[in-house]
Amino acid sequence: MVSHVQPPAPYPHKLIRHPETPINTSPTPWLTSVHATQRRGPYGSASYRGNCSGYLIKDLIRYFDVQRVLDPMTGSGTCNDVCSELGIECVSFDLQQGDDACSVSSYKGLGKFDFVWLHPPYWRQIVYNDDPRCLSNAPSLEAFVERLGDLLDCCSSVLNPDGKIAVLMGNYTQRGRYLPLTYLTMQEAIRRGLWPACTEIIRLQYRNSSSSKTYLSSFIPGVHDTCMVFGSA
Ligand SMILES: C[S@@+](CC[C@H](N)C(=O)[O-])C[C@H]1O[C@@H](n2cnc3c(N)ncnc32)[C@H](O)[C@@H]1O
Repeated sequence: MVSHVQPPAPYPHKLIRHPETPINTSPTPWLTSVHATQRRGPYGSASYRGNCSGYLIKDLIRYFDVQRVLDPMTGSGTCNDVCSELGIECVSFDLQQGDDACSVSSYKGLGKFDFVWLHPPYWRQIVYNDDPRCLSNAPSLEAFVERLGDLLDCCSSVLNPDGKIAVLMGNYTQRGRYLPLTYLTMQEAIRRGLWPACTEIIRLQYRNSSSSKTYLSSFIPGVHDTCMVFGSA
């Protein structure tokens, strides 16, 4: 008999109380290294697979005082909706409309940006289509990381000198092998001449598609993905 009812931990763990934070001059003092909003906000489409809440994007745009945004993997347009609400220009495209974010030709004539929001596929966790250019169709982990690097190079080429690139990435297990995609992303970004601009941000995932499933195996469920913000090294 398998039950969805989670046995209680021997200590309180469901209500996550945020640790105290030092007072500082941040325009978004609630933005810390843990982002936990249980609601997704009126941004993008909840039914688009792999979609995330818009609140983290909104906090980052306000923290970095951003004026012009690029979202080259826009999916259902969460980032674009956040920018519309904030009255900020956002240029967005997706392979679904035929534009490859890993090709320099897609960036011609777009001008410069001070913030790029990147929410790529977490390799094969969700396969979006059968287009070989899609990051979810990279034939190997190495090919995925290499293409991610090309994506970062393309975005760096349209970044203002103080601009930032935020990448939201998650880890998962595939056929028994844990894939630390966030660490590989960080490594590749540094290899391509970028450097972290602030702490990485752990984003807690509420109500994702696997949270209501039952598995007959034992594992430690991953309940977060990680946002890494880069500037030039
Ligand atoms: C995690 S989803 C993004 C979800 C999005 N943040 C939203 O608001 O719905 C990843 C997206 O990357 C797109 N994608 C994958 N490879 C791409 C490529 N080479 N060029 C452009 N878009 C790509 C997919 O089509 C998919 O829409």
